[in-house]
Amino acid sequence: MADPVADSLLEYRTKFSALEDCVHFISHSLGCVPDQAKEDLGQFFELWRTKSITAWSEWLPEVDRAAERIGKIIGAPAGTVVMNQNVSTIMAVLASCFEYTPERNKIVYESLMFPTVSYVWQAEERRGAKCVLVPPNADGITIDTQAICDAIDEHTLVVPLQHVVFSSAYIQDAKKIIAKAQSVGAHVILDCYQSIGTLPVDVIDLGVSFACGGSVKYLCGGAGAAWLYVKKELIEQFAPRVTGWFGNEAPFAFTMPEQSYADTVWRYMGGTPAVAALYQARAGLQIVGEIGVRKIRDKSLVMTQKIIDRVDELGMKLNSPRPDAQRGGSVVFDFVGSADVCRELNRRRFFCDHRPGVGIRIAPHFYTKSEEIELFFGELKKIRHGGGR
Ligand SMILES: Cc1ncc(COP(=O)(O)O)c(C=O)c1O
Repeated sequence: MADPVADSLLEYRTKFSALEDCVHFISHSLGCVPDQAKEDLGQFFELWRTKSITAWSEWLPEVDRAAERIGKIIGAPAGTVVMNQNVSTIMAVLASCFEYTPERNKIVYESLMFPTVSYVWQAEERRGAKCVLVPPNADGITIDTQAICDAIDEHTLVVPLQHVVFSSAYIQDAKKIIAKAQSVGAHVILDCYQSIGTLPVDVIDLGVSFACGGSVKYLCGGAGAAWLYVKKELIEQFAPRVTGWFGNEAPFAFTMPEQSYADTVWRYMGGTPAVAALYQARAGLQIVGEIGVRKIRDKSLVMTQKIIDRVDELGMKLNSPRPDAQRGGSVVFDFVGSADVCRELNRRRFFCDHRPGVGIRIAPHFYTKSEEIELFFGELKKIRHGGGR
């Protein structure tokens, strides 16, 4: 790669020994594990082993430390991010903040939504919500921003929105949709799972009410370290029904019988935090924060364009947007038999995944070498033409 910025990121590759014996194009689904995660998990274990119950005095602050690391990446002010286990739970907590009235009960979202989020909001129909799904454009991979804006009206309560569509990497015009939602008094919950760590996110510039995501993908943090951002002025406005003692103003006072909510962002927390996951995620979050997502994005754009060039050369169908401004961190492409080829690529340790209807998904990351693109497509060609290994 000629670009000196892109090349300079390869110095971080040394922190990921797992990359030595595979071609890792799966960071949109599971980021590579940093070697430091082993040390950090070891530290968690040692605290447990040596300090028993008193380890909590070191474990609990790790929740806010993890939130600060996320806050640095998404431009969130101190005290506006809280950790949780996964996005589904976070959505359920947020859904439990709202009451549905006939005047305001609409939940508007794209029909290309990541299914777990849809499941949560569909279940709210039992409480009076009315879900309105906006279909994609004729290409099946992009969504008309205006169509989403037009669906948002005075009856709309919440707009759960994927920043980047998981199945195509299409970047939604979040700013425009958030502005429309605000103009009618609706709240956007921005699911940044497919953007955080590969596409710059600035929650203040976006003006969004809520944002969430996890650490599994481009943050290289593994499962269990999801996060929720709540706009500062909204924190105390809501009292989630899905709650727990860590959302209490004084968890260790064991007050009964009713919840008395914390006045901090912890009021959105449920029960005991999954502390081991936060130790596990620490190194990935630190590395991404240190590099800065702008540099990761610059490299990603160069590499995803190279991938698109190979897809075109091989006559495969591209199922991701071509313009840089619309394309997130992964590239999706399809051909007859793609699911079988994906399985074989994984067996040969060329890690990627496959999604029904759109085909193979691959993503470069800051640690990707340019030549790995050639290796990947070389192997894919071999498999398609019946070549063994
Ligand atoms: C956009 C998006 N939202 C949510 C999820 C996952 O949600 P959860 O953390 O509940 O597993 C994913 C992928 O796993 C995703 O790509």
